[in-house]
Amino acid sequence: MMRLNDKVAIITGGAKGIGAATVHLFAKEGAKVVIWDVSNKGESLANRLHREGWPVHFMKVAVSDKKQVQKATQKVKEAFGKIDVLVNNAGITKDKTLLKMSISDWEKVISVNQTGIFYCTQAVAEVMKENGYGRIVSASSNVGLRGNFGQTNYVASKSAVIGMTKVWALELGKYGITCNCIAPGFIETDMTAAIPDHVVKQMLPLIPLGHWGKPIDVAYGYLYLASDEAAYVNGTCLVIDGGGAR
Ligand SMILES: NC(=O)c1ccc[n+]([C@@H]2O[C@H](COP(=O)([O-])OP(=O)(O)OC[C@H]3O[C@@H](n4cnc5c(N)ncnc54)[C@H](O)[C@@H]3O)[C@@H](O)[C@H]2O)c1
Repeated sequence: MMRLNDKVAIITGGAKGIGAATVHLFAKEGAKVVIWDVSNKGESLANRLHREGWPVHFMKVAVSDKKQVQKATQKVKEAFGKIDVLVNNAGITKDKTLLKMSISDWEKVISVNQTGIFYCTQAVAEVMKENGYGRIVSASSNVGLRGNFGQTNYVASKSAVIGMTKVWALELGKYGITCNCIAPGFIETDMTAAIPDHVVKQMLPLIPLGHWGKPIDVAYGYLYLASDEAAYVNGTCLVIDGGGAR
């Protein structure tokens, strides 16, 4: 039995990295997957997986744009009749130390990582409520728990994800909707490729497992929290960081 049989799942930021690994895994587990991403790589990925026989679709959606999110939510509902799973995975960084961070750096990160998750969850939860079922899983980060040098904006957004998740678990539980988040450590994707080498070298000894995580390590966390195996897990944050310093 596949773990997401016939479930309809939206995965934001599914064009690459952790999101793309999650798209593939969810499709293999029986889900009908809709990628929401600003990157056309999402379209190429969906086309490729479709040719291979997986029910994966792409919609160009900026999660930071409320109107686009509302429109896309209606389209998914019309096409599939329901939405079972929302993975709020899209995220960006614009790192600077506090004294050098511009308002624009602050606002861009908050608008995608925090406000974007608010828009997507608000729109999709309405559809889930009608169906009396839903699984919402969002991307926080282990830095949202411990802070990180040069990431005021990113850490603020990722701590907010943990807080919002706890509020939504309280508010949406009565509709059969669970809300959880994951807190990855250092995962090998384009996002972490931007971190300077000397910083990366300092971080490795802090990870007991002695190596970075792969996108699939996080995808399995999303899968668990999106599945019925996690039916009684609500309002929690699953740390996936190899036991790294917190
Ligand atoms: N890579 C890590 O080490 C790490 C660690 C902790 C948390 N995370 C979080 O996991 C998530 C995925 O990270 P990743 O490393 O795969 O990143 P990535 O940069 O490889 O992919 C992010 C995806 O989000 C999309 N995106 C960006 N802005 C968007 C918007 N406004 N609307 C829709 N899509 C948008 C991008 O186009 C891209 O496809 C992010 O939320 C990130 O903050 C990553």
